[in-house]
Amino acid sequence: MNIRVARVDDLQGMQGCNLQNLPENYTMKYYLYHLMTWPSLSYVAQDDDGKIVGYILAKMEEDTEEGEDPHGHVTSISVLRSHRRLGLAKKLMVQSQEAMATIYRASYVSLHVRKSNRAALGLYRDTLGFTVKDIEKKYYADGEDAYAMHLSLKDK
Ligand code: ACO
Repeated sequence: MNIRVARVDDLQGMQGCNLQNLPENYTMKYYLYHLMTWPSLSYVAQDDDGKIVGYILAKMEEDTEEGEDPHGHVTSISVLRSHRRLGLAKKLMVQSQEAMATIYRASYVSLHVRKSNRAALGLYRDTLGFTVKDIEKKYYADGEDAYAMHLSLKDK
């Protein structure tokens, strides 16, 4: 298994993985925008046959207030069912967080997650140390609330 920075020729595999795993889907243009704008923040997990089995799509937040510290944002992460609980998501998160902090001087990383997403909450809160900053009511298209979560990247 190999974790490495995502390239343009990985995008189809990343989108395929996303479509299998999540109801929140994105246009190819949006994936490409991430890679072109923040080329060191998105990563893939690839199996020995070269298949993309997991990805993290991440960016720097663009809508910041004046004077606000730069911060990173995880747009989407997922791992194929066949490859879960192997530590891949944790590795993808850590790689992206390190690049946010060292390359873009991000002071923290943010993300949204469904209140019912037990696996992702375990990853963010218990394994990585994220905290819940806010509850965004009806954030998702089907009406489910989101936790807005943060992790400080200072002293990392
Ligand atoms: N239940 C409880 N805790 C879990 C679970 C689970 N099913 N899966 C992972 N965790 C926690 C555990 O603490 C785990 O550590 P441990 O295995 O030592 O106990 C830790 O997270 C790290 O697990 P990884 O193996 O790195 O996680 P994995 O590679 O399996 O991927 C993920 C986790 C991405 C949430 C996966 O289950 C998945 O793809 N789910 C569907 C898509 C999804 O929900 N993505 C997140 C949406 S939010 C967003 O994208 C910003």
